[in-house]
Amino acid sequence: MGKHLLLLPGLLLSLPLTAAWTTALHCQVVEGARLPLVSRFFLPCVLDSSLSFLASCVSVTNLTRTLEAVPRNVGGLCLAGPLSVLPQDAFSDFPGLKVLCLTLRITQLLPGALRGLEQLQRLSFLGHPRDALSLAPEAFSNLSSLQHLAFWGLCLDRNLGVRLPPSLQRLAVRYSCLQNVGMLTDIFPDLVLNSSSGEGWALDTLDLSFNLKLNTSGPGALRGLQLRALRLDNTEMKAAAVTGLGLQRLDVLSAAKTGMAELPGDVIAHFGLKALHFQGNTIGRIAPKTLASCHTLESLDLKSSGLTDLPLAFLDAMPRLQTLNLAANHLQIGMLCSNGTGVESGLRVLDLSDNGLWTVPPDAFSCVPHLRTLLLKKNRLAHLDGHVFQGLSRLETLDLTENLQAAPGQGAQASLSELTTPRPLDTAMVPSSIWDFRSTASLSNLILMLPSGRPRILSLPIGLVSLELHAVSGTKPWKLVPPIFPALQKLTLKHWGLQLAVQNVSKIFPALLQLSLLGDSLEALCPQDASRFFLWQHPGLQQLTVTGIRRSPRPCCITGLPSLQELILQNLQAWAPPRPVRLEELVGELPRLEVLQLSHTGLETLSAAGFQGLRRLQVLVLDWEDGLVLDSSLQEHSPQMPQYMYFLSVTLACECANGWVEPWLQHSSRTYVYINEEWCSPKGGGRSKSRLFPFLQSHCPESLGRELFLGTSALLLLLMFLPFLQEARNWALYLRALCRAWLRGQRTEGQGFFYDVFVSHCRQDQGWVVGELVPLLEGFSPGGWGLRACLPERDFEAGKDVADNVADSMMGSRATLCVLSREALCTPRCCTELRLATSRLLAASAPPALLLVFLEPVSRHQLPGYHRLAWLLRPEDYRLWRPDKEGKDDFRAWLGIRLGQGTGGRR
Ligand SMILES: *[C@@H]1O[C@H](CO)[C@@H](O)[C@H](O)[C@H]1NC(C)=O
Ligand SMILES: *[C@@H]1O[C@H](CO)[C@@H](O)[C@H](O)[C@H]1NC(C)=O
Ligand SMILES: *[C@@H]1O[C@H](CO)[C@@H](O)[C@H](O)[C@H]1NC(C)=O
Ligand SMILES: *[C@@H]1O[C@H](CO)[C@@H](O)[C@H](O)[C@H]1NC(C)=O
Ligand SMILES: *[C@@H]1O[C@H](CO)[C@@H](O)[C@H](O)[C@H]1NC(C)=O
Ligand SMILES: *[C@@H]1O[C@H](CO)[C@@H](O)[C@H](O)[C@H]1NC(C)=O
Repeated sequence: MGKHLLLLPGLLLSLPLTAAWTTALHCQVVEGARLPLVSRFFLPCVLDSSLSFLASCVSVTNLTRTLEAVPRNVGGLCLAGPLSVLPQDAFSDFPGLKVLCLTLRITQLLPGALRGLEQLQRLSFLGHPRDALSLAPEAFSNLSSLQHLAFWGLCLDRNLGVRLPPSLQRLAVRYSCLQNVGMLTDIFPDLVLNSSSGEGWALDTLDLSFNLKLNTSGPGALRGLQLRALRLDNTEMKAAAVTGLGLQRLDVLSAAKTGMAELPGDVIAHFGLKALHFQGNTIGRIAPKTLASCHTLESLDLKSSGLTDLPLAFLDAMPRLQTLNLAANHLQIGMLCSNGTGVESGLRVLDLSDNGLWTVPPDAFSCVPHLRTLLLKKNRLAHLDGHVFQGLSRLETLDLTENLQAAPGQGAQASLSELTTPRPLDTAMVPSSIWDFRSTASLSNLILMLPSGRPRILSLPIGLVSLELHAVSGTKPWKLVPPIFPALQKLTLKHWGLQLAVQNVSKIFPALLQLSLLGDSLEALCPQDASRFFLWQHPGLQQLTVTGIRRSPRPCCITGLPSLQELILQNLQAWAPPRPVRLEELVGELPRLEVLQLSHTGLETLSAAGFQGLRRLQVLVLDWEDGLVLDSSLQEHSPQMPQYMYFLSVTLACECANGWVEPWLQHSSRTYVYINEEWCSPKGGGRSKSRLFPFLQSHCPESLGRELFLGTSALLLLLMFLPFLQEARNWALYLRALCRAWLRGQRTEGQGFFYDVFVSHCRQDQGWVVGELVPLLEGFSPGGWGLRACLPERDFEAGKDVADNVADSMMGSRATLCVLSREALCTPRCCTELRLATSRLLAASAPPALLLVFLEPVSRHQLPGYHRLAWLLRPEDYRLWRPDKEGKDDFRAWLGIRLGQGTGGRR
């Protein structure tokens, strides 16, 4: 396809798999890789962005109707709404579904409801604890790929003997009414050792967290179960109860906020736990005896545990410890290494954030030389000795943000500036406070707060890959040393604190890929003069995020970034006075941009001009914009529009300028548009009570309707075909035939036709054509109409070029009838013929020129792009064939009318 793509740069993108939808269906579709852009509409479902295609539907009342609108190839599906019954075979059209998340009001899950979901890997039910869900014992047994099964907030206590598929790895019953682990095993007896077979089940994770009343287990409730992880967060379970569960194996215990007052030393010792997540329990002090049983731990989370000190030789007691979280306690850091035996700890990650630390003694980290990540944010560090980090030769990530806010007194700011100034030129610096970066040459991620006050030189490790600098707004800028950061890929600036010549920035950060500007830092990169163009001309930059503080008086035009792929602009609209912004004032020439997300930018008009420089744009997400006008120039511009447009918390203006939108939404097969908001904003602001489309229909003249749409779309549809001709042969054949058809269409207008109907079908459907269709068309009255049909196999002139044959026959026929089945859609020749046939639609002066028969239900989503043209047809131009008597009669009546036979009379 490559060559054609080059020929037609405006048509680079393949068609979306869905047609445009309006709000009525309350469904949203997204490509997995783009999920983060719209994820708030997929909450609370846990979806995997590696899935190719995801859909989320809300307000589901009629499942059949909702699912009709969902592409068959989705890998993940979230359904929410008041639906109370899940019918048999509800998802049989979605055999490829891997993730299913149901936030419905169903009370009963019948055995056949999930039939056919053999590939399903994750299944979640969400609801309210007052809703009881009754499960058939065999409801899940045929889900042979199921790995995760989750119930959130649903009471399961009336169920007994529900079988679990052997593939299951994670079971979660959260926010439920469980009081007793024994209840769980009554519901799911597979969890318990079957004494006659002797083998225990193995599960990766059993998650019982947020069962607020769960307090007992009953001895041996999970006897024989082999678990990697057990989660009991926010329950009332006690340590002793965990030991008594009868588990055969447990590696990870998560027991945050369980109200335990002591580290569960006996649980750790009993299972030889590798990880304990114990945050939010008020421990205060760790007894030396308990510590002695912790030697197997590799990860320990004691965040918010009310710890005031650590026992002697704390790290020595846990020789395997790699990750330690001590955030949000009242610790003095000196204790960590003090009174140890001098043995090195293998600790890699240490979080000491939010401990109210004032100082760090010089030898504070002397016993943890393998530390890679050190988090010290949200402390009150007022003095750091120069040698604190000296032994940390493997340190990669250091977070020192939010350390100044709470610091009282005068000395604090100066001291932190010493930290960040290893070779100060300022003679006032105290030499002993120099932070020597030679010892932290490995540092690659640094997050720093720049102190206000007298600006200095900021000297940083040259190997930094990621740098985040926070400055106090309005600070005088610091000078960066060294002059070049050859490895820096990610730069985040919260407010502007740097003295940089922006014109030279690609020399200073040659490898930069991601830039985030927060606060008012955009101001420094956008001159105040009339042009307001973004100055940072970095040829390699791929991602740019700008989050303003809603103060900029005028928009800044981001332009001239040749590699930029993703641009996020948010909170740029000035509070007062609000000034309406056009898209072209925000973005300019960004030839590789694929994703554009705008929120609170004050955007008011979206017109073709805005997309001029965005030739590769695939996804446009607009959020929190009010009173948007979609200029009708977009209609002409459709082929260049992004494939996916999401209007999230966005209202369109109640203005006739938007009148073209609804017909376009209904027929655009090029762009998938999702409009979440069904209300529109009245002119001049204010809260509105008009529904968008009814308003437009009642207030705006008919002239913006269908004819206009068809007229303009015909040409673009014609263009749309071109990139889809994959084989060069077909391409040539098609173009030639199209030209001839066109010419002949002109010539033969008004002349007679040789055939009444040209039948396009593929070989696989020949049986139906010969058996059902031909007798009807060519048979004698009363069974048939005695028409002249042209069948390719029978009536094509031998020896004549195929393209000529097709074009001649089609043009010589009053109507073309395309027979479609799934098989036909997979056959190249059929596709070519259909392309030709659909081109008739464009060339014909007197429809109906093209009729379609579907031999089996074919979802529009199964249709490749060019076939989706079929949906441009009026509903009366296509029919689904059904073999029963009623279906045949219906088909006959329809075809008769369309071909000018029968009751409808000749047209
Ligand atoms: C649900 O929708 C389908 C298709 O739109 C329709 O045939 C069916 O009657 C509807 N069911 C109910 C209960 O409304
Ligand atoms: C599970 O599959 C078997 C064999 O395919 C079938 O007989 C049975 O009815 C299915 N059970 C359910 C609940 O779908
Ligand atoms: C235990 O296993 C035996 C044989 O494997 C089986 O017949 C029995 O139903 C199982 N019991 C339970 C409670 O699963
Ligand atoms: C568990 O909680 C219930 C009330 O929620 C209480 O009646 C019962 O005594 C508790 N059991 C234990 C072992 O604490
Ligand atoms: C532990 O170390 C501190 C100094 O770091 C010292 O004052 C204290 O006496 C030591 N305690 C023991 C028991 O060794
Ligand atoms: C660009 O950098 C060079 C040194 O590399 C410097 O001399 C020049 O002044 C800088 N240009 C601007 C506009 O700051």
